[in-house]
Amino acid sequence: MKRGRGLVGLLALVLGVGTLGFGANDPVPWPLGAPPSQSDLQEWIAAEQQIADRERFEEYLEAAEVGEDTEHMTVRQDDIDAGVFTLERMFRFGDAAFAHEFRRLDGFGRTELPRLQRVHDGHQGGLDTFSCAGCHQQGGVNGAGAKTANTFYFADGLHASKAVVRNPPNVLGLGLIQKLGVEMSAQFLEQRTVALAEAAATGQSVLLKLEAKGVFFGSIVAHADGTIDTTQLEGVDADLTVKPFGWKGHTALLRRFAERAALVHFGVQSHVLALGYQQKIDPTLGPGPNWWDPDNDGVQQELSEGTLTAFALYMEQLEVPISLPPSDDGLRERAAYGAQLFTQIGCAGCHHESLQLTGSSWYERSDTTDGAPMEVRLLSDGESPRGGLDVRLFSDLKRHHMGERLADPHDDPDGIGREVFLTRPLWGLAESAPYLHDGRANTISEAVDAHGGEAQAARDLFFSLSEQDRTNLQLHLLSLSRMPRLRVPQ
Ligand code: HEC
Ligand code: HEC
Repeated sequence: MKRGRGLVGLLALVLGVGTLGFGANDPVPWPLGAPPSQSDLQEWIAAEQQIADRERFEEYLEAAEVGEDTEHMTVRQDDIDAGVFTLERMFRFGDAAFAHEFRRLDGFGRTELPRLQRVHDGHQGGLDTFSCAGCHQQGGVNGAGAKTANTFYFADGLHASKAVVRNPPNVLGLGLIQKLGVEMSAQFLEQRTVALAEAAATGQSVLLKLEAKGVFFGSIVAHADGTIDTTQLEGVDADLTVKPFGWKGHTALLRRFAERAALVHFGVQSHVLALGYQQKIDPTLGPGPNWWDPDNDGVQQELSEGTLTAFALYMEQLEVPISLPPSDDGLRERAAYGAQLFTQIGCAGCHHESLQLTGSSWYERSDTTDGAPMEVRLLSDGESPRGGLDVRLFSDLKRHHMGERLADPHDDPDGIGREVFLTRPLWGLAESAPYLHDGRANTISEAVDAHGGEAQAARDLFFSLSEQDRTNLQLHLLSLSRMPRLRVPQ
């Protein structure tokens, strides 16, 4: 299956959403005012039909001239640096890359003949499947993953019970989340510099409480000799970098996530990783012997740095999840009451309803060149809906101890504890079942039931609510959804 999404924004246009002026911030009345007129609907279907036709044509083209498809997603970082491409063009490269089915000529697999194997062997990946879209498609394009798309990381290549099991989340709204993380980290680093300077000037140790965007991350002690005691930190690494991606919160930047994903799911190595290999032989990349082909499969520069940049710029421009409360008056009132309960019983202690961005521009920088970065205005560039500075993600972007029932079978190589997970953003929840890091929960209630550790008190309060109130709270969470979209099948 090859399915990109074309440039959207269309639905918003057709339904007059733009004129209603909603962002991810405002609950959207549904149905959205008057239903679309016949002519609007025709226009919309025609546009979607065009995307489907183009995709079918591209498939024929690829069959007729092998390598066409790879060409559509391959970008040179030098060309990006030279300002050859618009953001919209980068979105299309990223879209092609996300739907691209990687194969031998792209460097799919390692040394020997590629074979699909669901249970990963140490750092070596599956190989799992052929495209990003192959796993991220539940609830719509760029969506979450079904339980059958679970990934079995860091095992022995054989036994699923030894694996760290993960269910794919959706990849929507991530540009805003990435920016929130970077702003929080920058704030911590600034506070740390001030504390170190004060300690050096006074000769006294300085206790610094770390807080960013209303979230507390424990404290550090800056000593006069320039060392730092990080033992009282909470929910963030000692480098004070907030890493909002992955269920455990192990990665800060989207380009790094795309790079890892291509490596572990497809055995496709980025040019940036290969350059790193040149400096230091990295066994997780393969036996070498040549730095330009670490996995020794005969394909060099498997993923150009420009394509990594395209992946990042693509995800930064994807639609942002929205709130779609029930259209029925009675149910809508119950959902609104559920939102109050969510706060009252302590869910919002971790699932912060929103975090406030300071800036709205993102600069996507190359790892290897010093070309000018491309700017994404996160609130206006890309697909609608875009969201606002008040990012309603329902997370604090902090890691928490979640108790033994949620614990992984073993620590993962990032050194984050077995039972420690990042508060999962809940936006888009209505379309992202199954729930929890391994997709074990099919309903919201089952997901809450598995909460333990720091979340035990909130979990217990949830189950002490009347059945009616529990359903009210679930109505609230089910209104966290994504823009409905028409699709013309190929
Ligand atoms: C085999 C299934 C599979 C494939 C293929 C796949 N992913 Fe994922 N994706 C996952 C899983 C599982 C996770 C959660 C991983 C974790 O928690 O560390 C994930 C997480 C992500 C995230 C982080 C989202 C968040 O909110 O934390 C991003 C970004 C992402 N994938 C992008 C990609 C890209 C880009 C590709 C293609 C290069 C890709 N994925 C291919 C399964 C897949
Ligand atoms: C101590 C912090 C904390 C509290 C309090 C908390 N959660 Fe969570 N929540 C998390 C973490 C961490 C995860 C991810 C856990 C995992 O997958 O292993 C999560 C996951 C979820 C999920 C699944 C999301 C998905 O995409 O799979 C739902 C639903 C949820 N929480 C709802 C609630 C509700 C309702 C409450 C209040 C009764 C609550 N949470 C209280 C931290 C918390």
